[in-house]
Amino acid sequence: MTSRTPCIGGNWKMNTRLEEALSLARSIGEGVASIEASVDVVLFPPLPWITGVAEVLSGSSVSLGGQDVSPHGEGPFTGQISAGMLLDAGCTHVLVGHSERRHGLDETNTLLNDKVLAALEAGLQVMLCIGETLEEREAGKTGQIISTQVEECLSGVDQGSISRMTIAYEPVWAIGTGRTAEPTDAQDVHAQVRTQLADLYDASIAQEMRILYGGSMKPDNAGELLQQTDIDGGLIGGASLHSDKFLSIINASTTQGSAQ
Ligand code: 13P
Repeated sequence: MTSRTPCIGGNWKMNTRLEEALSLARSIGEGVASIEASVDVVLFPPLPWITGVAEVLSGSSVSLGGQDVSPHGEGPFTGQISAGMLLDAGCTHVLVGHSERRHGLDETNTLLNDKVLAALEAGLQVMLCIGETLEEREAGKTGQIISTQVEECLSGVDQGSISRMTIAYEPVWAIGTGRTAEPTDAQDVHAQVRTQLADLYDASIAQEMRILYGGSMKPDNAGELLQQTDIDGGLIGGASLHSDKFLSIINASTTQGSAQ
């Protein structure tokens, strides 16, 4: 029996101005402080707000992450941010492979693998996003797409580093659309990923790794998703911009539990 602590991420994407970001972080920090159950909460604010948000959340259990990272350590890469810079700014986590970068900016599995390796090498925890498009789902290719994304993005990640990774399954067609995956469909994908992790690493690593669901998770559908055996938390977009909704999802994760 493995008991996985639930994890809820709030991906603010390119939303909030400074005052709004600080006030949102303050409300979330206060809300999380009053939760007694064990849950890991990570916020991914726009990068310019990281140090301000870190200050607001100092002493809180809420962690901070970047929304993207460069595969390079330093050098002439205008506009890019290295893993070391994220660490210095107060991040412990980073998102890699969000569909708004995979599909919006044509980031390939090879590039994402380089980003994963650079972030792990620097000491960050990585939340790797995977997910199929609607076209791929309708063509019956979900399993194959997910399996290729996992295999190629984790290439070269050794047993010693894999514990610093979380997978976030975010079906592209469910992101920001109000359309959520059926809990049992999401569970099928999560179970497939866990089986693949057991093949790539071993059964106990696969049991310990957290696999989050993302894509229009809201207070009213979170419970049913989070009670699935292999759904260990959520990566939340829109609802993470409202502290009451976000806190309600965090609470749902602690009452549904991911312990199996
Ligand atoms: P929504 O919750 O707005 O669908 O966004 C999900 C997401 O992309 C989180 O990374």
